[in-house]
Amino acid sequence: MKTILLVFGTRPEAIKMCPLVNELKDRRGIRPMVCVTGQHDDMLSRVLDTFSVTPDFDLAVMKPEQSLFDVTALILERLRPVLGSVKPDVALVHGDTTTTFAAALACFYERIPVGHVEAGLRTWRTDCPYPEEFNRQAVSIISRYNFAPTEQAKLNLLREGRDPVTVYVTGNTAIDALRATVRADYTHPELDWASGSRLALITAHRRENLGEPMRQMFRAIRRVVDEHPDVKAIFPVHPNPAVRAAAGDILAGHERIHVIEPLDVLDFHNFMSRSHIILTDSGGIQEEAPSLGKPVLVLRSVTERPEGVAAGALRLVGTQERSVYREFTRLLDEPGAYEAMARTTAPYGDGHASRRIADVLCGL
Ligand code: UD1
Ligand code: UDP
Repeated sequence: MKTILLVFGTRPEAIKMCPLVNELKDRRGIRPMVCVTGQHDDMLSRVLDTFSVTPDFDLAVMKPEQSLFDVTALILERLRPVLGSVKPDVALVHGDTTTTFAAALACFYERIPVGHVEAGLRTWRTDCPYPEEFNRQAVSIISRYNFAPTEQAKLNLLREGRDPVTVYVTGNTAIDALRATVRADYTHPELDWASGSRLALITAHRRENLGEPMRQMFRAIRRVVDEHPDVKAIFPVHPNPAVRAAAGDILAGHERIHVIEPLDVLDFHNFMSRSHIILTDSGGIQEEAPSLGKPVLVLRSVTERPEGVAAGALRLVGTQERSVYREFTRLLDEPGAYEAMARTTAPYGDGHASRRIADVLCGL
């Protein structure tokens, strides 16, 4: 019996790891155990409920206004005894958050083999996204098993000198999650409110966008909505107080913009599938939207997800008011530009990534 310890702590890690937890529960010879760091609290527990995953350990590290130091130090300190008692054969981490980095580092110190899910994404710029690009590169140095979502991600790892036998191209487990959530008969009062209008779905939270970049993008969005009476916008706002303040100042109070609490993942995926256009600086949404045929204006200047750009589903528009205003307007006013982006493509997988990762782990 092999013990696999899955460690994760934020909303997107949970959305992409829970399908794998549930897949591993069904495999003979594998005992999956889950340790959540609690880097996010409410947003995390809602995902766990959605996928019926009960953690074996909760490090409960989140505190208001937490810094990178707080999160890193608390995870190192509190994960150590968990690793000591579980003694996993492999520990799995996901992606590029502080949880990912600190958990992988703790495993390295305890000489526990690390498997990295969603390995090989790169911008090659440690300032963007910050601190995620550092986290993902650092974890690659430590990882024994690299589960790359795409061929491009695999190439990135090989370019860094990783041993090819450690890299498995699996697709992204985000698409596995999407298969479980989107429903044709889904309804929600916010979607009733938006019905008859073109719905723009907005999210923003990147650390390097906090402050003036975020204010600029929000001003652009408000102006465009102002000028298009048939457009309504919904912004489920991240709990980060800095995001809340900017959204409250600039977007709230407009009759066609609803600033609401974060949505549960089942709701959010269905909102995406009913939206006309998505504006976001999120990573995961760049993967999910192309599978739903929804154009995304990416509120960043670089992306580690170039496959969606190449497929025509994502467009990088930066954070400056002028460029966000111009590209958002163009997509609303030029049907040809919209149609060119609104094609369903699957650059991030077929929804069976968890099965492939579990197959590898079973065969170790
Ligand atoms: C983190 C990750 C980022 C990921 C994002 C997903 C790091 C450095 N950043 O960013 O890579 O894209 O999660 O959402 O790991 N907060 C709450 N309640 C919550 C969650 C957060 O109040 O449920 C507050 C925290 O107290 C903190 C702020 O939001 O003050 C930021 O949280 P933090 O986890 O530090 O970073 P995120 O911006 O969420
Ligand atoms: N998401 C959600 N509720 C929301 C907004 C986003 O469930 O109100 C989901 C979204 O579908 C995606 C993930 O959260 O799966 C993305 O999380 P986030 O943007 O916070 O992090 P990132 O992907 O940028 O790391």
